[in-house]
Amino acid sequence: PNLKYIKVNLNKHDDILNSINKIKPDIIVNACAKTNIDWCSANPKISYAINVSLAEKLAEICDNNSIYFVQVSSDHLFSGKVKFKSEKHKKSPLNEYAKQKSKAEDLVIKKNKNALIIRTNFFGHSQDKKNNFITKSISLLEDKKLVFAFKDYYFTPIYVTNLLEILKKLINKKATGIINVVGNERVSKYDFLLKVSNIFNLDCAQIKPTLISKFKLTAKRHMELSLSNKLLKKKYNIRVSSLNDQIKKFYKERKKNNVFNTFFNYGRHFTDKQDENSILDVVKKGALTQGPKILDSEKIIANYVGSKYAVAVSSCTAGLHLATKVCGINETQNLLTTPISFVATSNAAFYCNSKPFFSDIDPDTICLDPKVLKNSLIKKNKIKCIVPVHFAGAPANMKEIYKFSKKNKLNIIEDAAHALGGKYKNGKRIGSCCYSDMTVFSFHPVKIIAGGEGGMITTNSKKYYQKLIALRTHGITQDYSNFQNLKEAFDKKEKNLWYYEMNSLGYHYRQTDLHSSLIISQMKKIDLFLKRRSEIAEIYDLKLKKNKNIEILQKDLRKESSKHLYIVKINFKKIKKSRNRFMRDLILHNIQTQVHYIPIPIHPFYSKKGYDLKQLPNAKNYYEMCLSLPIHYNLTNRQVNYICQSINDLTA
Ligand SMILES: Cc1ncc(COP(=O)(O)O)c(C=O)c1O
Repeated sequence: PNLKYIKVNLNKHDDILNSINKIKPDIIVNACAKTNIDWCSANPKISYAINVSLAEKLAEICDNNSIYFVQVSSDHLFSGKVKFKSEKHKKSPLNEYAKQKSKAEDLVIKKNKNALIIRTNFFGHSQDKKNNFITKSISLLEDKKLVFAFKDYYFTPIYVTNLLEILKKLINKKATGIINVVGNERVSKYDFLLKVSNIFNLDCAQIKPTLISKFKLTAKRHMELSLSNKLLKKKYNIRVSSLNDQIKKFYKERKKNNVFNTFFNYGRHFTDKQDENSILDVVKKGALTQGPKILDSEKIIANYVGSKYAVAVSSCTAGLHLATKVCGINETQNLLTTPISFVATSNAAFYCNSKPFFSDIDPDTICLDPKVLKNSLIKKNKIKCIVPVHFAGAPANMKEIYKFSKKNKLNIIEDAAHALGGKYKNGKRIGSCCYSDMTVFSFHPVKIIAGGEGGMITTNSKKYYQKLIALRTHGITQDYSNFQNLKEAFDKKEKNLWYYEMNSLGYHYRQTDLHSSLIISQMKKIDLFLKRRSEIAEIYDLKLKKNKNIEILQKDLRKESSKHLYIVKINFKKIKKSRNRFMRDLILHNIQTQVHYIPIPIHPFYSKKGYDLKQLPNAKNYYEMCLSLPIHYNLTNRQVNYICQSINDLTA
């Protein structure tokens, strides 16, 4: 973290000199090299400039400026079968890379008598998280794929952190000349990988031995690379820990660091070729706006959730507005909902000149708590409609809410923005409207399926369906059975070709064929999406359950929930970190978390109207401690495990 990086063009020796004059370093370690053996053979000139000329120049500059110079060399310098070669062993490089590394050693010694040259062969992750033999093999094994490793290629590997610790010691001792900085054990690549898989708990049956001699490689290979580290022990009294201990260290550090080179969003859509083709099809030959895909998407969703009708709209927000409107909500009738939702839920009341009221959540389900609903308040506040939100995809207690609504003659609109694919405790799908007048879904990209933007209202009522269809398009109807101005509509008994009629004040809330086509192709993958979310939630449940500073929420609703969000409560006081600090610390681990949601009553638009959280203690307590962790189709088990580890470490 305290490192500063500057860019220098290493091919321009003047540039190097300028930078050195500016920085005035005490030490220069040349770890720069082209190491791909076949590439070096194919590109001898470029690789020579980097592997040889640069080393020579740096050694010379350091000598002239009294800077301590360290050249990182290689174990690829010897042919033959001698094991554990000492620093004095005669060099006999076979390929271009080896020749260049050997030449570089010679020139460094010639130009700088005080230089230190370390011969090594290390394993571990690199700063830029690029894959190398070992990290690539681990990834493949973690994904349960086969890995082939050479059984006739021997080396004495050292873990990069151990190498750096030793290098520091050597620098402190101002060591000079050639020193082998390698591990104690000579292993084949195959045996090495077996050791790694054992410590990493990976399936060693996936590692298959093979022979380098079987491969027709362009450049000749050294097959016995093992070096002796006796001089290191004898002259400098530096001991190297056992290979097993080094691999264990690698395991620990790998777990700690984000080795994925990816930023983990809390939510993210997944699209594939099928989705691209679905949209492209519309672009190429479809009607871009009002085409057949809209009707198709409506049929697919209605069929999936088990409702009679579905009406595609431009967003869930638009859908909630229309549903509220067709329920007859107006300035004399109000709406009751949960304070823990996105503002779109309650804003629907204001769109209809009505007022939203809030009732507290159940602290376990984070949905409206039917136990605290009060008959007397319904009358007092002129509530006509209740809007439960299936929060994070988990079903609200609809059976009880339905009973309450029946008693008080209320309409029910379910806000199922999060809940496509979710079920009630009775096994029916959310959206089947078995407890409600209408249900509204969202296809915003972070939701269960992505439609770019988009929403869908499902209902079993023909009356509502017809009203919704008209309201989503300006209140216009094309259906001549509903025409009121018959004189304008008909030419004798024939419908006038141009004629349509606006019978009520509607909106432009239509979905486009482009969005519908994406919804259609995404629906083909919904089972996969839901399954993956279940698997991820299972890992979180398992890996976080022992964490005393974390409370897992909605656990009893995992089976029914679509698991749009995975939310936990964190005791920020106990971990002595504000939520903001904790979220920022996680970002340093490339992990994005989010708060769902700021309670609606405390948004200034609402608080200025007198809303607050006074009567809503569960919502207040939830908001103070909640955090949504990443959950989406693209996350691998490994990545979720890494996220758990990071969270556990940061809350310890
Ligand atoms: C609970 C809830 N309702 C409604 C909406 C609005 O959805 P849309 O963006 O599709 O309008 C959201 C959006 O996040 C939501 O979370």
